[in-house]
Amino acid sequence: MGSPKKPQLRSQSWFGREGKQGFYYRSWLKSAGNPHDMFDGRPVIGICNTWSELTPCNGHFRELAEFVKRGVYEAGGFPLEFPVMSLGETQILPTAMLFRNLVSMDVEESIRANPLDGVVLLMGCDKTTPSLLMGAASVDLPTIGLSGGPSLSGNWRGKQIGSGTGVIHMSEMVRAGTLTQEEFIEAEACMQRSKGSCMTMGTASTMASMVEVLGMSLPDNAAIPAVDSRRSRLAQLTGRRIVEMVREDLRMSKVLTRNAFENAIKTNAAIGGSTNAVIHLLALAGRIGVPLKLDDWDELGSKLPCLLNLKPSGQFLMEDFFYAGGLPALLREITDHLHLDCLTVNGQTLGENIADAPCWNNDVIRSLADPIRLEAGIAVLHGNLSPDGAVIKPSAASPALLRHRGPAVVFENIEDFKARIDDEALEIDENSIMVLKNCGPRGYPGMAEVGNMPLPPKLLRKGITDMVRISDARMSGTAYGTVVLHTSPEAAAGGTLALVRDGDIIELDVPGRRLHLEVSDEELAARRAQWTPPPAPTRGWAKLYVDHVQQAHLGADLDILVGGSGADVPRDSH
Ligand code: FES
Repeated sequence: MGSPKKPQLRSQSWFGREGKQGFYYRSWLKSAGNPHDMFDGRPVIGICNTWSELTPCNGHFRELAEFVKRGVYEAGGFPLEFPVMSLGETQILPTAMLFRNLVSMDVEESIRANPLDGVVLLMGCDKTTPSLLMGAASVDLPTIGLSGGPSLSGNWRGKQIGSGTGVIHMSEMVRAGTLTQEEFIEAEACMQRSKGSCMTMGTASTMASMVEVLGMSLPDNAAIPAVDSRRSRLAQLTGRRIVEMVREDLRMSKVLTRNAFENAIKTNAAIGGSTNAVIHLLALAGRIGVPLKLDDWDELGSKLPCLLNLKPSGQFLMEDFFYAGGLPALLREITDHLHLDCLTVNGQTLGENIADAPCWNNDVIRSLADPIRLEAGIAVLHGNLSPDGAVIKPSAASPALLRHRGPAVVFENIEDFKARIDDEALEIDENSIMVLKNCGPRGYPGMAEVGNMPLPPKLLRKGITDMVRISDARMSGTAYGTVVLHTSPEAAAGGTLALVRDGDIIELDVPGRRLHLEVSDEELAARRAQWTPPPAPTRGWAKLYVDHVQQAHLGADLDILVGGSGADVPRDSH
């Protein structure tokens, strides 16, 4: 008996053909100088690139792709780089999140439609990570994620300043009159000092950590700085490894298991990660067919402490995290909470990957005995104001406000908020609860990061630094405050949030996981009878999005994109 016949690679349905079809598929690729033996049945690796000058965080991805290619060639593969729409968090309006699902479609269809056997995903700026993972998951080929890495630590006048977190802090100082406009502008050039993603534990760093703990990248992916030579080495090793993965048929679905998602939820608590991870992981789980629900975040992660002393929850930045040992060192500290037998893309288990990971600085990566916050994971709040759930990140909130009862000050949308928040006559004090409507998936549309509403200047001048804020929006992972987010159903979908009026009393009870509007059911029914939804987009992507987007507690994916269509080879085009 001979050994079983190796399954033919998917790419051979293009390149292994005779006659006119094979000529078409090979000839045009030979225009790039590729010799005939590139089509001989070796693994063809797509390098999905989100490089764009409009996405400065991913500005080094062309060079990174070259290192991936080196590795692919070394391992006997054939690399082919391709672009997808890139989402630059700081540039795209009305919000990059409006396009996360669109890019995921771009990724999915680009992979499935082309002669690819495996894929390397180059991801960095916030939405570029979930969109690529989601699209690739719906195809389910062997896939490795490679993050671009964080930028160098911000430094202004001898002090560290962190991406996003520093902007929010300094802009509040300008509004309070304690920082001049000139100083504020000077700081702009001192914060993002290199290519790479935000170097706080914002959404980009959180998602890069999620990629690593999910097992979707090689170890150390999360924290190596973008411009460190070890990032290039990681890219080269990633290129080598994806070729082996194709030969092993190690697909995403073998890595992205329910246990892997449970590890991710727990890790998000231990790193003080972004609330955005909730939405993105729920959507990713939906693509790969893993049952995951919003309440899992609370049940699995909320009791874990935050061990990572990084802004916005702590003191340091991503460079410090890498020098302290990076994510493997942190995971080793929470070993007892993890499923160590989860398979990762390097063919080893998570436990094997972190078994010997050293920690070099236990002020940056704290021990379980000395955390920076207790019970730091995402808390999920239910009540008549959020029947399907709302989230809060207690590690970024003021402990004194986690139980609070106060009168609502309502803003109907973000324009209403911006028009009135600086008005000295606005009736608001530190006990008020700021409520912002119509910023959810359908309402914005796209669920913008506007949930951490800036405080009124008159209260900032009094020294007030935090208030309870509630919305159906998201907030930047670099932000902080006692901010209730992702209220579901959202106002634009007719959720109770739409019915809140100025002066209504709201009770927030994070320890009790409760968010309650003290208005009778009869009164709410009467208000609902008068409610009309805000106008919705009438054409193009925005209309398709609003017609199909699911609510936040389901991950805000399009209902038509949940699940996958697989990697079957489509019909010939010629
Ligand atoms: Fe790109 Fe923060 S703006 S990662």
